[in-house]
Order: sequence, then C-alpha cells, then structure tokens
Amino acid sequence: PILLMEYAIIGAELAQEGIPEGTPALMVITSIGRKISEYSTWCFAEGDYLKGMLADAMADSALFSLEKELVPFLREECGMRKMGISRRLEAPHDISMEAQKVIFDVTGAKEKSGMNISSGYMLDPVKSNAVIYMLTEDPEIFMHQHNCRKCNRFDCKGRNIPDIPVKVVSGEDIYTIYVKERTSILEELIRQDKQISAVCGGTGRCGKCKIKVLSGYLPATAADQAYFTLEELKRGLRLACKAYPEEPLQIELQFQKEVSFEVLSEFSGDFAAHRVHDTAEETTGMQDTLYTAAYGIAIDIGTTTIVVQLLDLKSGTKMATHTTVNRQRSFGADVISRIMASVNGKKAELQELVRSDLTESIRAVTKKAGVAPKQIKEIAIAGNTTMIHLLMGYDCKGLGEFPFTPVNIKQITDTYKNILQDDFLDAAVSVLPGISAFVGGDIAAGLYTCDFDTREAYSLLIDLGTNGEMALGNREKLIVTSTAAGPAFEGGNITFGGGSIEGAISNVQIEDGSVEIRTIADKPPVGICGTGVIEAVAELVKQELVDETGCLEEDYFDEGFPLATMSDGPQIRLTQADIREIQLAKAAVRAGVETLFLRYGIAKEAVERVYLAGGFGFKLDCAKAIQIGMLPECFADKVEAVGNSSLGGAVKFLTEIHTRKRIE
Ligand code: FES
Repeated sequence: PILLMEYAIIGAELAQEGIPEGTPALMVITSIGRKISEYSTWCFAEGDYLKGMLADAMADSALFSLEKELVPFLREECGMRKMGISRRLEAPHDISMEAQKVIFDVTGAKEKSGMNISSGYMLDPVKSNAVIYMLTEDPEIFMHQHNCRKCNRFDCKGRNIPDIPVKVVSGEDIYTIYVKERTSILEELIRQDKQISAVCGGTGRCGKCKIKVLSGYLPATAADQAYFTLEELKRGLRLACKAYPEEPLQIELQFQKEVSFEVLSEFSGDFAAHRVHDTAEETTGMQDTLYTAAYGIAIDIGTTTIVVQLLDLKSGTKMATHTTVNRQRSFGADVISRIMASVNGKKAELQELVRSDLTESIRAVTKKAGVAPKQIKEIAIAGNTTMIHLLMGYDCKGLGEFPFTPVNIKQITDTYKNILQDDFLDAAVSVLPGISAFVGGDIAAGLYTCDFDTREAYSLLIDLGTNGEMALGNREKLIVTSTAAGPAFEGGNITFGGGSIEGAISNVQIEDGSVEIRTIADKPPVGICGTGVIEAVAELVKQELVDETGCLEEDYFDEGFPLATMSDGPQIRLTQADIREIQLAKAAVRAGVETLFLRYGIAKEAVERVYLAGGFGFKLDCAKAIQIGMLPECFADKVEAVGNSSLGGAVKFLTEIHTRKRIE
C-alpha cells in the first residue's frame, strides 16, 4: 500500500475548480498497488467472473479502509501547522479528473512510488485515490471525511460545491449550462431563459420536460420510473424537473420551445363609438384633462400570454399590438404552480420575469407605433388575482390556502416607474380591481367589456382556462364563481397535449373511421391543443367510439385512438386517460354553471346571452362543447365568443368616461 501526502497552496489551475486560490491544502494519494487488480484481471481472463468481481470488490474495500489509516497522519500534520480540515475533495464528484494530475505531480507519485497517470487522468494502479483536504485556520475543525454534497448544512460558510457542466443539444443549438447544487436541470434552463415551460410546475406529473441523457450518468428517480417505461429509461429518458446532476452530462432536449404560441388580442365591441374625450364631462380612470395627441397602453397579463396594445386616447384608434408568452410559465402552466413557486422562494424571480416581459413589450409596441415615450400618458393593466399579486410582489400565501385571502384586489393607481421599476415612460398606471382570489381583474374587465353593469337581461360570462371563471347576472345582481377545470383545456395532462402552438391539432372530424385534422398555422402535427382534445372527444362520442360513461371502444382502449402521425414517426393518440381528464374538466365547468343558476334562482333558459371569453372560448366549437355535456343544450344559439375581453376591458377603461366607478 502507498500513502503519499504533500502540503501545498492552491494555485491558479485548481482555482478554476472553484477552490479559492491561495487556500492551504494537503494533497494525498492512496493506493493498494497493482497485485489485486492483476489478480482480478486474471480471474476474468480465466472465465471466473464471480471470483474476479469479488476480488475487485475487496480491492475497493481495502482502498477505502486505507484512507482511514491516513487519519493519524492528517491529525499530526494539522497539529504541527495549527490548522484544521474544512473539506475533502475527490474526483470526479468534487473536482475534475484533470485535478488528479495536479495531485499526482505535487505528491511526486511517479518518482516516489512508480505510479503513472494516463492521458485521460486515470491513475495507475487502478485501485488508487487522489484527494485534496482543504485546510482552515481553525484547528478545532477536523472534517477529514466531509462531503459537502451529502451534507445538509446549507448555510455553512465553508460549503463549496462546484456547478456541474451540462452540455445541452436542442435541435441545431448546442450550449452548456452550469447546474448549481440543489437545482434541477429544468430550473437551470429556466434561469438561462430558454423559454421552457413546466406545465405541472416541476412536480414530475406532466412529462413535458423530457430530456435524453447522451453521455454521463443520471440516475432514474421515482418520478422517472413512474413516467417512463423500462425501455425508455434504458434509452436515457429522464424528466428535467427531477434531474439533479452530480457529474458532467450531455443531454438532448426532447420538448418543444414555446415560442410560437397563438395569442388572442381581439375582443368584441366597437369602443370607438364611445369615445368621449372631447366632451366636457370627461373623467377617465386617471386623468381629468383633455388629451391632445396622448396615447395609452392597455395590457392583459394572462397566465399563458401577455398582450400589450397601444391606443390613441383621443380617437380610440389601436396603433399597435405586441404579444408575448408569459415567461413565468417556466414555473408552471397554472396559477397554483405559480403561487407555490412564489411561496417557495421564487417571488422575486417571478416579479422580475413579468416586469421584464412588460417593459420589453411596452418598448416594442411603442417602437412599432412610432410614438414618442413622453406622449404615453396612461396604462391600464388587467389580469387575474395571481398575476397581479406576482406583478406587485405581494405575498401569495393567502391565495394558496383556505380561505383564499388576497393581499389586495382593489384598484391600484401608481406610476409606471414605481410598478415596473423602469424609466422608459412617465405614465400613470391603473391596475384594474378584482373580485376575489380566484375571480380577478381579468373577469371584472370582461364583465365591463360586456356591459353587465348596465344590461337588464341576464347574461353569463365564462372564461375557460385552468380555472373556469364565470359570472351570471344583470345590472341588479351579479354572482361569480371559479371552478378548477385543471390543465386539460390547455393540453396539460393530455398524453400528446400541449399549448396552442404551431402544429397543434385544433380541429378534428371523424367520418366512417377516417380522421381529418387541422393544425394551428397548418403546420405538420406536433401534438394536440385544448380545443383539439374537445373536438376529438366529441367526434368519438358522435361516432359511438366512446360510450356515455366515457369509455373508449375495446379496440382503442389500451393504445388510444390514433389522430395523426408526427413527421418524426410517432402517432398522436387520444387515450382513455385523456378522455377521463376531459371528463373532469368539462364536469367542473358544467358544475359551475349549474351552481350559478341554482344560486341565482333563475332557469338556464332565462339567460339571453352566453359570452365565452379567452382564447380557448374563441376557438371552441360550441356544438362540440354541448355534445360532450360541458354546456347545456339550451345555450346553443346564445353563445358569443368575445375574445380577449380582459384586454377589451383595459382598452375601455382607458377610453371611456366614468370608468373607475363603473369597474369598481
Ligand atoms: Fe417535469 Fe412536468 S414533469 S415539468
């Protein structure tokens, strides 16, 4: 056996490993020599594998024990220098293999013991170890076996775990990310702004964050085992949200970048007809003065997308619109995931993301419209309660637990500079008021867009998303509710589901067993979006391939019903589990509708108009929604898609009179 130990000061070559340059250290090599390795190699050559493996295991054990023999020498050395040991670093986990060469040279292993090191920095004899013990001036500390990676003292000042390099292949793009301790690959990708969504908020349930390990070792977690088949695990498939690398890796992203979301910026209503800025009784949301060449910006902060629209306040003309994906989506597709992320320490990150989405969009829309920033006088923002909490930096704890108490849902009036921490504009900002924790300013804006406060006839507004928010009533009385529809309408929890991105199947027709589909932007099919799923289920019901309980025909029960084939081979199928998800979602919506009417005390037939708000409602084929029982039959000729009524409300707020009072 060999024990070599040398005192050294960490130089520049090791400083790259994350060890501070100038740190005193003891460099150590331990080896049990060649004989046992030669013996085990001979056993294998003779075909006695069991003996060979046992010899190898015993060699490892002996090498491990040898390090224990080192302890008295370490104590003596430290005692002499009046120092302690703060950390033990070993390749390849704590330091790179190249660092072994430094230890090899410093200890004089070749000259003193005839050892060798290969060009790949492997020690010869094989059963050898190279370790760095970092020294500290405190002789009381003696953590000679300490491995920071396995230690739970996260606030320890001496903690030093190098970031793990992960080479990422994403289509044509190849880049390296450095994954920090206790950070998943998904989190690091999000941090690097790679426009990646975590539909389930990184809880390992949606399977939308698939990666393939091309080289290196990444153990399969329980979530991986639950999600992937054995064969997929063997091919190296893992969930990025559960991947905490401990060694350098090369991976391939197996999911799409969400850069091509379809964003809805249209809404019902001709607001130009209501312009009154040239009348004497003007009292808009923020200003009492008449506008001359003044502009305003209406903003809808949606959970998935953000729309920013620049308007001429005098004429009411739309000058330019800019849309973007809400980058907070990286922290989960629905409000609950965002609330959880905020409560779990990501509040500042989430606020920063929405602020930068807004300031970038405002710059873009201003440039597009060719308007000078100083001419923009007023901004109105509509959004659900969670989005507004995240924007304002409010504590989201109350939104996540019973009795679901928001910090503030009143109308907020402040300056652009204060709210967005940006100097680009000198404008006033109004954040539209909300109704409750789960019926927010976007719905208030929608009700205002549809004139619920002035109409005598009963109307129903439904905004379908992960929450189905709805309101029923007239100018006398209005009641609202929010039902948890889950992510199915946005393609979440659906086997081949996804957002409304290019190539997502949005229309399905089934006739005599042959399937016709249409995709968003007529691109080759890549998955299926919410309306596509509803259409597919409705068609399957119509063709009696799904029975009244939601059960698929036996032929399709196991594998699902094939809808289309992707360009790279796999089939897009609608499975039995997908149909169950849709049943849950549509039942939540229907239950909400039934409850509202029951509470209000009127028959469903009494309602004059049913407004469907939002992107999903805009594209939804009402007949199909009725076919699957999501909406009652008596709504058939009363439904009107009103588009982005949240944005519509913000526009109306900027361009009409008495807006503040009306919306409140
Ligand atoms: Fe990883 Fe949903 S499974 S984000």
